[in-house]
Amino acid sequence: MITVTGATGNIGRTLVELLAGADEEVVAVSRQAQPAHHTAGVRWVRGTVGEAASLRPALEGSRALFLVLGGELNSRGESPDTLLSAAADAGVERIVLVSSQANATRPDSPSHARLREFEAAVRTSGPEFTVLRPGGFASNAFAWAETVRAERTVFAPFGDVALPLVDPADIAAVAAAALREDGHAGRTYELTGPAPVSPREQTAALAEVLGEEVAFVELSREQAHAQLARFMPEEIIPGALDVLGLPFPSELAVSPDVAAVLGRPAAPFGAWAARNLPAFR
Ligand SMILES: NC(=O)c1ccc[n+]([C@@H]2O[C@H](COP(=O)([O-])OP(=O)(O)OC[C@H]3O[C@@H](n4cnc5c(N)ncnc54)[C@H](OP(=O)(O)O)[C@@H]3O)[C@@H](O)[C@H]2O)c1
Repeated sequence: MITVTGATGNIGRTLVELLAGADEEVVAVSRQAQPAHHTAGVRWVRGTVGEAASLRPALEGSRALFLVLGGELNSRGESPDTLLSAAADAGVERIVLVSSQANATRPDSPSHARLREFEAAVRTSGPEFTVLRPGGFASNAFAWAETVRAERTVFAPFGDVALPLVDPADIAAVAAAALREDGHAGRTYELTGPAPVSPREQTAALAEVLGEEVAFVELSREQAHAQLARFMPEEIIPGALDVLGLPFPSELAVSPDVAAVLGRPAAPFGAWAARNLPAFR
């Protein structure tokens, strides 16, 4: 049995489908009761990574745990040890943690302090572990969906700064491999897309899949801060903007890890855009 936290999220949604499709017994964790669109055969348990006690029913009998911190849990919440003790007590033997590339590239970033704590705790908690360190997600473009739908315009900062954005479905596929297969214990994978893509180029990719023109309007850093504050905790916004606008060479590089684990290239932004077209139509 495999427990998936963040099961309604960008990575978790696909991970649940992949595991269930591979005939794994899956327990999906969400703060909601079973979501309306759910994969057949998956058991949904109401709970949150924010409260270890709420996860106990989802952990009982599980041999592997996919751990992801959604929303504000990236910056605040219970000590990682509380959650990891609950997992160890329940008999979990393997943990796959979603961390961030910034843990390598920005080891002092206040925005990533909690992910660093979780990484450190997972490495010493007992069960086998695999750490996933993705760069920026293609799905961050969901933040543009409303204005693309309403006025066929993307408003974003740093229009020509290109980063190798990773498709969350590729993160899910790597997570599924690490949860199910041997050979990933103790590994840390840096997960990126196949090539850097700028916000202006992402806009062009969205226009292509929509078959309509989409305008790009560049925001100032201050305007972008206000935009991100609508869905991101205030304390992690400066770090996120630094990565978007002032990336280090190590954050521009394409990592070979997705292809090495999956045996196929990472998906380009256009593939994510095509799959998520209904959100932008
Ligand atoms: N976005 C990026 O560019 C990027 C880059 C590097 C690393 N990361 C890391 O990737 C992780 C996010 O992965 P993701 O995008 O798959 O997750 P996500 O979709 O943002 O969230 C996963 C799930 O967490 C639950 N959740 C959200 N806010 C919560 C809260 N305040 N308390 C408890 N549960 C909450 C929600 O599920 P329910 O509502 O069903 O409970 C949500 O579906 C974070 O740790 C982030 O730091 C992101």
